[in-house]
Amino acid sequence: MSTQNHDNDAPGPDKLTGHNYDGIREYDNPTPGWWHLIFMGSIVFSIGYFAIFHLSSCQEVLAPEARHAAAEKRADAASFALLGELTNDGPTLMRLSTEEVAIGKGQAVFGARCVICHGQNGGGMPGLGLNLTDDYGKNIRAPEDVYKTISQGVTGTAMLGFEAQLGKDDTILAAAYVISLRGTNTPDGLPPEGEPMPAWPAAAPPAGE
Ligand code: HEC
Repeated sequence: MSTQNHDNDAPGPDKLTGHNYDGIREYDNPTPGWWHLIFMGSIVFSIGYFAIFHLSSCQEVLAPEARHAAAEKRADAASFALLGELTNDGPTLMRLSTEEVAIGKGQAVFGARCVICHGQNGGGMPGLGLNLTDDYGKNIRAPEDVYKTISQGVTGTAMLGFEAQLGKDDTILAAAYVISLRGTNTPDGLPPEGEPMPAWPAAAPPAGE
């Protein structure tokens, strides 16, 4: 008892609790109020955070990435709706080849998959891909042939079939873009190969008409 009194006389705020475990004694040091406040505060905050960000529909409003992704998804769905049904018949391919949204999407596919052989502007690369910007076709007489070539490739050449990788929609959009390249006659293009192609046929009326 006298030792304890001695310790309690020590300078500083620490007091002993009087608990004694095999000679190990315990200071009476409660966790400070500010610590409890932060601890309880963070629990309360986490409940609110979870409710708002994970359970409610406000997440789109509050989290910019979620809002961005949702807006992009809506815009993409809307632009696909604008394009109407993507089919690989000639009149639809011709229609798509004049629609900015379709050309933009097709150009993105072309940029990712085709420029290595057909060049940035579609003019071809020596020893790799043909010039797609002139009026000559090797495998092509009609818009459907453009789709078919991209979809299935040309057996025995470096031109592989892309539909398995791209899916039907992107293959159709790439075809629409390639159709739109005809006549652009890029100055960096390769000399023509194949035969002069007949003029493209008329386009189908715009989607929804
Ligand atoms: C590895 C190189 C390579 C890649 C990648 C490639 N092509 Fe080709 N492409 C060729 C070659 C080579 C030919 C010519 C085939 C032949 O000799 O009949 C060709 C032919 C074509 C033709 C037919 C041209 C004609 O006049 O007959 C089209 C259309 C075409 N490619 C579009 C595409 C598109 C679209 C992509 C991307 C999705 C693509 N190509 C990717 C090499 C490639």
